[in-house]
Amino acid sequence: MFSRLLLILLFSLVSLSYSSTVSCPNGTDFRQLTRAFRYVSGFNSSWFSNCSVVVTHIVLPSRKLNGTVSWTSLRNLTHLHVLDLSNNSLDGSVPTWLWSKPGLVSVDLSRNRFGGSIRVIPVSGSVFSSVKKLNLSYNRFTNAINLTGFVNLTALDLSHNNLRVLPLGLGSLSGLHHLDISRCEINGSVKPISGLKSLDYLDLSENSMNGSFPVDFPNLNHLRFLNLSANRFSGSVGFDKYRKFGKSAFSHGGSFVFNVSKIPTRHRLHPLPHRNPPPHHRNVKANRFKRTPLVIGLSSSLGALVILVFVVSLILIRRRLRSARTKSRWAISSPAPLDFKMEKSGPFAFETESGSSWVADIKEPTAAPVVMASKPLMNLTFKDLIVATSHFGTESVISDSTCGPIYRAVLPGELHVAIKVLERIRDVDQNEAVTAFEALTRLKHPNLLTLSGYCIAGKEKLILYEFMATGDLHRWLHELPAGETNVEDWSADTWESHVGDSSPEKTNWLIRHRIAIGVARGLAYLHHVGTTHGHLVATNILLTETLEPRISDFGFNSIPKAEKDNNNNNVEFDVYCFGVILFELLTGKQGSEEHVKSVRRLFKERRGEEALDSRLRLASGESVNEMVESLRIGYFCTAETSGKRPTMQQVLGLLKDIRTVSR
Ligand SMILES: *[C@@H]1O[C@H](CO)[C@@H](O)[C@H](O)[C@H]1NC(C)=O
Ligand SMILES: *[C@@H]1O[C@H](CO)[C@@H](O)[C@H](O)[C@H]1NC(C)=O
Ligand SMILES: *[C@@H]1O[C@H](CO)[C@@H](O)[C@H](O)[C@H]1NC(C)=O
Ligand SMILES: *[C@@H]1O[C@H](CO)[C@@H](O)[C@H](O)[C@H]1NC(C)=O
Ligand SMILES: *[C@@H]1O[C@H](CO)[C@@H](O)[C@H](O)[C@H]1NC(C)=O
Ligand SMILES: *[C@@H]1O[C@H](CO)[C@@H](O)[C@H](O)[C@H]1NC(C)=O
Ligand SMILES: *[C@@H]1O[C@H](CO)[C@@H](O)[C@H](O)[C@H]1NC(C)=O
Ligand SMILES: *[C@@H]1O[C@H](CO)[C@@H](O)[C@H](O)[C@H]1NC(C)=O
Ligand SMILES: *[C@@H]1O[C@H](CO)[C@@H](O)[C@H](O)[C@H]1NC(C)=O
Ligand SMILES: *[C@@H]1O[C@H](CO)[C@@H](O)[C@H](O)[C@H]1NC(C)=O
Ligand SMILES: *[C@@H]1O[C@H](CO)[C@@H](O)[C@H](O)[C@H]1NC(C)=O
Ligand SMILES: *[C@@H]1O[C@H](CO)[C@@H](O)[C@H](O)[C@H]1NC(C)=O
Repeated sequence: MFSRLLLILLFSLVSLSYSSTVSCPNGTDFRQLTRAFRYVSGFNSSWFSNCSVVVTHIVLPSRKLNGTVSWTSLRNLTHLHVLDLSNNSLDGSVPTWLWSKPGLVSVDLSRNRFGGSIRVIPVSGSVFSSVKKLNLSYNRFTNAINLTGFVNLTALDLSHNNLRVLPLGLGSLSGLHHLDISRCEINGSVKPISGLKSLDYLDLSENSMNGSFPVDFPNLNHLRFLNLSANRFSGSVGFDKYRKFGKSAFSHGGSFVFNVSKIPTRHRLHPLPHRNPPPHHRNVKANRFKRTPLVIGLSSSLGALVILVFVVSLILIRRRLRSARTKSRWAISSPAPLDFKMEKSGPFAFETESGSSWVADIKEPTAAPVVMASKPLMNLTFKDLIVATSHFGTESVISDSTCGPIYRAVLPGELHVAIKVLERIRDVDQNEAVTAFEALTRLKHPNLLTLSGYCIAGKEKLILYEFMATGDLHRWLHELPAGETNVEDWSADTWESHVGDSSPEKTNWLIRHRIAIGVARGLAYLHHVGTTHGHLVATNILLTETLEPRISDFGFNSIPKAEKDNNNNNVEFDVYCFGVILFELLTGKQGSEEHVKSVRRLFKERRGEEALDSRLRLASGESVNEMVESLRIGYFCTAETSGKRPTMQQVLGLLKDIRTVSR
């Protein structure tokens, strides 16, 4: 699981060891930067290798950066003005505090896989954003946008995202010069932006917007660029507009009437009198009234033929355009573009990372609903999953589990999810699967990763979970660099508020103890409701941002075929597995049969202390006692005779006692 994150981590190890040779004092901008990019492959800290420099610009376009930025570490770069990470392979959610970061004037995150909410949240600082230029094109932003506080914005490019609606507050951006919201699947009237007085560039192409031209539009006389193609507008387009913005600006734009005709040469040579009129200039107004009948009069005589030719060719072009457009529509986000028309004919073939492929034979992707347990009104369909995973493209794969590939996606409404395709139960009857999924969504516990939804598309069964960015316990325990674990990330914000005792020696043990308790709790709950897990391992335990463990991958033994070759569906086996995980937490070594044997032997010989993880910094005798006591619990859990193993309820009690006893 999360093999991709592991890889990123390996890369970050490289960059960490590199940065440590530079050894800048803590708190310098340089240190913050290397931290911010430690999970990003392709980042080279030598790009910024001067400790004494205050970072004002992070300009890293097209550097093949791949991974997730640890945004929190950028928060303290107090002099950051320009942030350009465009054209990389970065992903994850951009935090809202970024938008109100004082002094930040230019942000270009275009051509990545970012998502997140774009709004100013007063609690995180200023109620205004100082950003002037914002380019978020070619990403995965959704409609979670409120631009009300972006008072200084002059250029906004949100094109090629999945916005679906006009961003809130867009109409209030009085200083906006440049607006590109093309290809954002926006549906609805253009009217909210009609008041944008300063616009000189407006691209609305390839949406499903409606509205009447030109009355519902911003002042066209100020515009030097306009593109309305591929929309559902209506209205009439005069010759001047047609000439100024070009034919392709209106192609397929809706039901326009073109008052297009040849203007006599003498008119064409002179600059059009009402080209840039001051809004209330009387002479200009009078001029326009005089001109209009003239244009119409000419159209009816000279231009009739031209119109006819134009309309016919428009129909012809439109046909060709439509097929061209459907082909290219997904090309940006999808490595294997899918023709729109295919959606009606199925089947879809999707490739997974391992090279195998799965096929959803489905006629209408919008007809297969995604059933969300917590948000029944979301109205998501299989098509949303297709969009959010770039057609289940390899770049969205997190891992290839034994059950099938797992994808990562940001759904509309900023829902960050992991989507698992259950290849192994493809042949299970639909009703049976629904019953099982419904039962699973009802298994709720803070230490279980509960099913948040499911979707049945033809024979394919997909399940959705909350996405856990921190990854799994295996990664946290065995892959993160010793000493400098990602503890620092949250120690300041989260942990200290929960734990009064923040001495570094103890902190690690406290965390591990808390993780052990969480896992024990989740497992005890599963057993309490009469379910077993069957294959509890460290990779099945995911961690929240505050390192609260959540057990995943449980409950499929209730579905026939899903677990048919698993003979370990009993409570005692789960307890054994828990013992192995407890040993891992205490020794820092990966669980295996040999490892269990050697730890058990050491414990029996009263040399348990030798087995403990040296990274736990055994400073205080008190915590060593606690750890050895915990080893004893692991010893019980891994008893060879399964009848001798305690129940999870008992294990939980023992684990809890360890800390209260020592206090
Ligand atoms: C990003 O990294 C992952 C693994 O770390 C790799 O599978 C993927 O292909 C990379 N993407 C790009 C665009 O390089
Ligand atoms: C500062 O850095 C030193 C080593 O350079 C480290 O031991 C210490 O924990 C760091 N302090 C903080 C608050 O990060
Ligand atoms: C980073 O860049 C420097 C100089 O450009 C180079 O010598 C070094 O090998 C690079 N390090 C990595 C990890 O790519
Ligand atoms: C770091 O930058 C400062 C200011 O630009 C410069 O004076 C100093 O020489 C630089 N130090 C190194 C080691 O490059
Ligand atoms: C994006 O980066 C790639 C290399 O990673 C480069 O080939 C391509 O030209 C860049 N595209 C743009 C629009 O800059
Ligand atoms: C940011 O700075 C504040 C105050 O200087 C400090 O308390 C906090 O720990 C810093 N945060 C990070 C992520 O370094
Ligand atoms: C935004 O970025 C895209 C792609 O990187 C680029 O084509 C476009 O011109 C940029 N928009 C603005 C307003 O700079
Ligand atoms: C907006 O720009 C003006 C003028 O440059 C500046 O005075 C003001 O502080 C800016 N507002 C914000 C929120 O940064
Ligand atoms: C948008 O943001 C403004 C201020 O930032 C707030 O007053 C308003 O309620 C928000 N609108 C919505 C619909 O959230
Ligand atoms: C636009 O929205 C309306 C209702 O909100 C819906 O009926 C219609 O199908 C949508 N059109 C497109 C092209 O998405
Ligand atoms: C524009 O589309 C929206 C949603 O599809 C609809 O509610 C509205 O009536 C339409 N307006 C016009 C003027 O057609
Ligand atoms: C307008 O957009 C369409 C579709 O993206 C494109 O084919 C056309 O060239 C654009 N026209 C202008 C004037 O940019």
